[in-house]
Amino acid sequence: MGKNGLIIAIDGPSGAGKSTITRLLAERLGYIHIDTGAMFRTVALAARRAGISVDDERSLTELCRGCAITFERTGDACRVLLNGEDVSGEIRTPEISLLTSSVSARKGVRDCMLEQQRQMGRLGGVILEGRDIGTVVFPHAEVKFFLSATAGERGRRRFLELQAKGETQSLEDTIADVVRRDRQDEEREHAPLRRAADAIDIDSTGMSIEEVLDLMVKTVNDKLTETG
Ligand code: DC
Repeated sequence: MGKNGLIIAIDGPSGAGKSTITRLLAERLGYIHIDTGAMFRTVALAARRAGISVDDERSLTELCRGCAITFERTGDACRVLLNGEDVSGEIRTPEISLLTSSVSARKGVRDCMLEQQRQMGRLGGVILEGRDIGTVVFPHAEVKFFLSATAGERGRRRFLELQAKGETQSLEDTIADVVRRDRQDEEREHAPLRRAADAIDIDSTGMSIEEVLDLMVKTVNDKLTETG
């Protein structure tokens, strides 16, 4: 166990509820929440702004190295900053979601993010959510969850989120995007979305947030008792 507590990995496909659950779990445990998807999204946004193509890995990697990505908590909200600028809203559009899936497949980008994520989590007392936390970033994390739900359910949740923000994408298109991103994330060469062999599987289809949270808190408490 690290100086500040356990390292907890929460991996799974998009729309499985990772962000909400991770935020609440971090609050309950008094741990730091690191949304690694937001880090890749921020790189994608920076690439789009700079007009860098997803095929230009060298420029993407250079760009990535020059990006200072930080998190800032104000009350309930966690803001993502790119070189000090709040980009939390801008990184959540459907366009950036798809672009992120391609940008995050680039090895140079992944290596750069890997270093930063390991640095952020090294002292423990953290929950990292993403796709490869339990397999690549922290393969020795003390607790690993793989959170999933059916594609239909995940698309429906994403659709409601987008609607609440005034986005007009249809339910059908949102589900199709979810399926497309799943395929890109699972089939990419570097650090694909994969369940770690020692991860605890949670299918959140038909489960409430509270039910998922209770299950996770119990698992973490059992681990803490076990490690003394
Ligand atoms: O969790 P999210 O939907 O915000 O992630 C956005 C994209 O980033 C998603 O297509 C997969 C990618 N990602 C990744 O490759 N590795 C991570 N650790 C987190 C996200």
